[in-house]
Amino acid sequence: MAQPLRIGMIGYGFMGRAHSNGYNRVKDFFDLEYLPVLQAVAARDPAKAQAFADRWGYKRVETDWRKLVASDDIDAIDICTPNNLHAEIAIEAARHGKAILCEKPLSMDAAEGEKMCAAVEKAGVANMVWYNYRRIPAVTFAKNIIDSGKLGRIFHYRAEFLQDWTISADLPQGGAALWRLDAAAAGSGVTGDLLAHCIDTALWLNGAVSDVTAMTETFVKERKHQLTGKVEPVTIDDACSFLCHFKNGSLGLFESTRYARGHKALYTFEINGENMSLKWDLSDLHRLQVFDYNDAGPMRGWKSIHVTDSDHPYMDKWWVPGLAIGYEHSFVHQVADFLECYAKKQPAHPTFRDALETQKVCDAVLSSAKSHQWVGVE
Ligand SMILES: NC(=O)c1ccc[n+]([C@@H]2O[C@H](COP(=O)([O-])OP(=O)(O)OC[C@H]3O[C@@H](n4cnc5c(N)ncnc54)[C@H](O)[C@@H]3O)[C@@H](O)[C@H]2O)c1
Repeated sequence: MAQPLRIGMIGYGFMGRAHSNGYNRVKDFFDLEYLPVLQAVAARDPAKAQAFADRWGYKRVETDWRKLVASDDIDAIDICTPNNLHAEIAIEAARHGKAILCEKPLSMDAAEGEKMCAAVEKAGVANMVWYNYRRIPAVTFAKNIIDSGKLGRIFHYRAEFLQDWTISADLPQGGAALWRLDAAAAGSGVTGDLLAHCIDTALWLNGAVSDVTAMTETFVKERKHQLTGKVEPVTIDDACSFLCHFKNGSLGLFESTRYARGHKALYTFEINGENMSLKWDLSDLHRLQVFDYNDAGPMRGWKSIHVTDSDHPYMDKWWVPGLAIGYEHSFVHQVADFLECYAKKQPAHPTFRDALETQKVCDAVLSSAKSHQWVGVE
């Protein structure tokens, strides 16, 4: 008989739905010692919170996240709010001894992230950050290949995350749904929102970054603010590109923008080693492109592996070989991995401390863009 892990979710937007789906599906596909129970959701509007609870199966609602965090019937707090609330909620949840699953980026900046790490470590509570792209089977497969040493010496890592939804100068900034355009709520623009994903994957696959040089641009300088109704300066980076050195001696190249007309969520990465290259694209997420220099003869070339066989990561839990899964499954996998680690009292990666490394790279990138200098990652 599985033990319950009673979830208290805060925020019910895009990620509130993605996580709720993950909690609901995990029991149908994974055999686990702990299973999530959707105990309560906290949001400020009681009617909307109740409608969300009814749809996804939460037992009750709270309108104040502080009450939820202090409730005896909650074991784990799931933070699905805009970035400026992550630290306050996480520190309070740690104080109440709750396990914490926090959305990315961990924090507004590394200094805030340090405080969050100190809080969960002092309280000794389980903690994890939702860098879910690690759990896409083709990405996990890339990690396994890299860890086997097959690539040899690594020369290059490059990644991009491109969107096009903020091109219109008429789009307001701030408030519900548009908090990402307001640095007071988001911390930064594409750097913390999109590049943070690329950086987390890169650190996981290729190790630590030593220094960076970056440029950012804000193409639309003023927008109407939804909360004040006034036209105000835009405080986020609309686009960011940076170069870096990894500690393993390889070179990194990263680009992100919300002004790449035609691209909705193009996340790609490529890693070039002495013996092998790997390439992945979110828009074809179940495929991993592989070039193996050891393949003999004139038939050598790039191959496209359809990562859907039962000996591929996570795929034995789903359908029969050849049938693809999608974006939402990465959250099911992350829930499953968290619960497995929770049962074994092991850290579930990326922990707050792992995610702090991404935050430090983001800080260095933003600092370099300002100073026009190479900046070391602490
Ligand atoms: N892992 C991923 O791929 C991924 C994707 C999207 C967003 N995110 C992250 O998830 C978090 C939420 O993003 P989203 O896209 O779900 O945003 P969203 O705007 O869709 O939802 C945010 C939710 O927070 C709620 N909220 C705001 N202030 C609150 C308060 N004081 N008390 C309680 N609830 C409050 C809002 O009502 C809303 O329900 C962000 O940190 C974002 O960076 C991660």
